[in-house]
Amino acid sequence: MQTRGLGYIVPAGRRDGKISQASDTFTNLPPPSFNVDQLSKLFANKGFTQEEMVTLSGAHTIGRSHCTAFSNRLYNFNRTSRQDPSLDPPYAAQLKRQCQQGNSSPNFVVPMNPASPAVTDTSYYADFLTNRGLFTSDQTLLTNSATANQVNQNAKMPFLWRTKFAYAMVKMGRLQVLTGNAGEIRANCRVINS
Ligand code: HEM
Repeated sequence: MQTRGLGYIVPAGRRDGKISQASDTFTNLPPPSFNVDQLSKLFANKGFTQEEMVTLSGAHTIGRSHCTAFSNRLYNFNRTSRQDPSLDPPYAAQLKRQCQQGNSSPNFVVPMNPASPAVTDTSYYADFLTNRGLFTSDQTLLTNSATANQVNQNAKMPFLWRTKFAYAMVKMGRLQVLTGNAGEIRANCRVINS
């Protein structure tokens, strides 16, 4: 997939780990079911403001998600409604066609920002404003007045969002960097050195 990104300068030479364990994600990454308070707390634990959390969530403008990350919103939301009432019904119907009930195959993925899945723009924020945020963790940003204002602002001011996003990404790159002889500086940031 050819992606169209936004360019910004990042410091090089970060020491990265040599092993990657799926189990680490459970303690460090938020699940897509989190609400705005839970997200804010988790990001605060890592030194990020609530606004930086909203800014970084815009990364979902590119990429794909497995059906399992949101299928509860389509089929078994809660006792009173099987489908999440905060999800736009035509969008829910489209997702149901793409993600059939009970299908947890890793081959089934959908774009998180169907309008432009390979372009780093702010249309993912615009999705929430029409109740088309794919994850509960995205749609929930409209339930708090401060974060809802930021979603609106980001949707309307792509240039401002890009500047905030670049800053927050560089900040995230400085998180828990290994020091001394731990880990290694990768020659290619995607893979460990051979
Ligand atoms: C705010 C809390 C966040 C939650 C709850 C969350 C949740 C998720 C989930 C469930 C997926 C789909 C994974 C899959 O099914 O394979 C996903 C994908 C993705 N997320 Fe997040 N995420 C969050 C924040 C972020 C941040 C801060 C970034 C980066 C700055 C990010 C970047 C991405 C990207 C690029 C993908 C697509 C991966 C691909 O296409 O393979 N997310 N996220």
